[in-house]
Amino acid sequence: MQILGDKKIWAIGGGKGGVGKTIMTSNLGLSLAGHGKQVVLLDADLGCANLHTMLGIKNATRTLNDFLSKKYTLEEILLDTGTENLKIISGANAILGLANPNFLQKQRLINHLKTLPADYILLDLGAGTSYNMLDFFTIANEGLVVICPEPTSIQNGYGFIKSAFYRRLNLLFSKNMIITPLLQEMIRPKSKRYLKTMTDLIELVNLKDPKSAQALQTELSAFKTRIIANMVNSDEDKESVLAVKMVAEKFLGIQLDLVGNIYSHSVVAASVKKMQPFMQTAPQSQAALEVNQIVEYLMEAQNAAATPV
Ligand SMILES: Nc1ncnc2c1ncn2[C@@H]1O[C@H](COP(=O)(O)OP(=O)(O)OP(=O)(O)O)[C@@H](O)[C@H]1O
Ligand SMILES: [Mg+2]
Repeated sequence: MQILGDKKIWAIGGGKGGVGKTIMTSNLGLSLAGHGKQVVLLDADLGCANLHTMLGIKNATRTLNDFLSKKYTLEEILLDTGTENLKIISGANAILGLANPNFLQKQRLINHLKTLPADYILLDLGAGTSYNMLDFFTIANEGLVVICPEPTSIQNGYGFIKSAFYRRLNLLFSKNMIITPLLQEMIRPKSKRYLKTMTDLIELVNLKDPKSAQALQTELSAFKTRIIANMVNSDEDKESVLAVKMVAEKFLGIQLDLVGNIYSHSVVAASVKKMQPFMQTAPQSQAALEVNQIVEYLMEAQNAAATPV
């Protein structure tokens, strides 16, 4: 699986259902479009595609099925959203049997994503940690994980980050005969757990091959994942989402960046009922302000990363 270069692809995951991944994708997309960027939203929730519904499109005339079955190009299945600068690729219809594309179909989709005429492509991922979701998350430049302050979301959010991290390391080091078997050992259900943390792994790899340990350490520093805390109502809620950041630092050795807090807002549920994102129904609301802040933060972070020093 190849990792895309400088294309601005944001994947919005979360591990758990109902945490606000689709809400975030649609509203982040609208915010980016409002900032004058050309945006394409792709519904990568292959089993339960509903991003188009959130944007008020009742019947998607063309869907990802039409691309996966080679009927149309990716550009030909772009649907207008009625908003300037914002287009959507509606998800495949599971009933038609393409909810689980094979490796070649997925590879073709990823290759074609690079050619789309857009400044930003946002991928709305489904729940769970299937290889499809992890691979979409891995190819993106920005992985955004939506986590709510409830134990199941915290558990699944961390589980999603951990699985994506291991998947990425497995792909990157698939030919490394020292790292790969040890990684397998770490994720084996009945492992003796002498390797509890990434620090343990690096120390062991270092004894066998310092160069591989160095490469692993470099990847750990490069693994960029960000968190959005959604439906928080108090400082205590924010603290519980931050627990994921601490656990990831301790056990995975990676830094997670909390990009913003979105509170629970009545405009959000109301906008879902209206089938119109709150960036449109309530552009002056606190919810819209919070989304705009996240978008501005991310655009600035990416510009800073792209500017040579
Ligand atoms: N900040 C918020 N304030 C209030 N309600 C919210 C907020 N975020 C999400 N919701 C509610 O949660 C519901 C689920 O959101 P959404 O469909 O985006 O979740 P999801 O993670 O995409 O779920 P799935 O995995 O099923 O696709 C929304 O319909 C909305 O009512
Ligand atoms: Mg969804």
